[in-house]
Amino acid sequence: MSDYADREGLRILGIETSCDDTAAAVVVDAREVLSSVVSSQVDLHARFGGVVPEIASRAHVELLVPVIAGALVEAGITDDGLDAVGATVGPGLIGSLLVGVSAAKALALVWGVPFVAVNHLEAHLYAALLEEPELELPVVVLLVSGGHTMLVLMEGHGRYRVLGSTIDDAAGEAFDKVARFLGLGYPGGPAIDHLAMQGAPDAIAFPRAMRDEGYDFSFSGLKTAVVNHVRKHPEVGTADVAASFQEAVVDVLVTKARRAAREVGARGLALAGGVAANSQLRERVLDACEEDGLHAFLPSRSMCTDNAAMVAAAAWWRLRSEGPSPLDVGADPNLRLPDVS
Ligand code: KG4
Ligand code: ZN
Repeated sequence: MSDYADREGLRILGIETSCDDTAAAVVVDAREVLSSVVSSQVDLHARFGGVVPEIASRAHVELLVPVIAGALVEAGITDDGLDAVGATVGPGLIGSLLVGVSAAKALALVWGVPFVAVNHLEAHLYAALLEEPELELPVVVLLVSGGHTMLVLMEGHGRYRVLGSTIDDAAGEAFDKVARFLGLGYPGGPAIDHLAMQGAPDAIAFPRAMRDEGYDFSFSGLKTAVVNHVRKHPEVGTADVAASFQEAVVDVLVTKARRAAREVGARGLALAGGVAANSQLRERVLDACEEDGLHAFLPSRSMCTDNAAMVAAAAWWRLRSEGPSPLDVGADPNLRLPDVS
């Protein structure tokens, strides 16, 4: 128990710079979002077809101060209006993480408030809680982003069991790589999502690796299957390829997530991470939850992709349970989700 365990109305500034989004937000008690500013670097990286780490960290340096200032102004916060500053310390790109972590520590020192180190994966889990504070636990969370694909059983605040994760590519990575191959640009997820609406999801029967066994995922074979199919059938319509690829990914994700929810006796199924913005995935999860009598928790699309409101929400929980983080906590590009099993 920390000194903050019973404090109400905690106003926390969250800072997120783990990859290519520079974000800052002010959130009260992990419930009320006073502001959430996200500056995407997509245009800077698009011509390279993916995130260039060196460009990302330099852009964070330029963007972070105006983004923080914007979040404070939008929230109507002046000098002594904050109770803590939380920042993502990992996982992510080391150069990018360091920009946000250094800024957060400096601001915490200047303002004389605690610094809270936040795990980016835990922050994604808190995106669902932020919008559904009464979320009934235990809940199975399907966390699908550009860097991670995992099924997590959230038993309580801070109590996670990682049921399974990808053994190769993350789901978002598969979207990005297939989109690049199809010439749809970067980031690939939204482009495939959009194009798939004009295609037939059953046009091509792409493989569903490991769909009916265990909780781990594998997407690299699917990516290769797409490449091989298009090379063999150059006349195939790109919309049909996009729709059939997306169908294969969504089928595997939803089949495993609902099986996990059933087998662990969860009350609900939540989505988190950038791929959770996918239209088809959201629709399928809603259908599955209705059929299985589960609560579906789908954060709004802007809360699925990287943002700092989820960081502030996770910081609130860590501050209440453990208190401030020491200022010598470093950034850790390979930080894992704390697992109680
Ligand atoms: O969570 P996120 O913003 O950053 C990471 O922590 O990785 O996730 C980014 C990933 C990218 O791979 C992007 O292509 C994917 O999420 N994504 C989508 C959609 N929107 C973003 N994938 C499928 N459909 C979408 N609508
Ligand atoms: Zn993320």
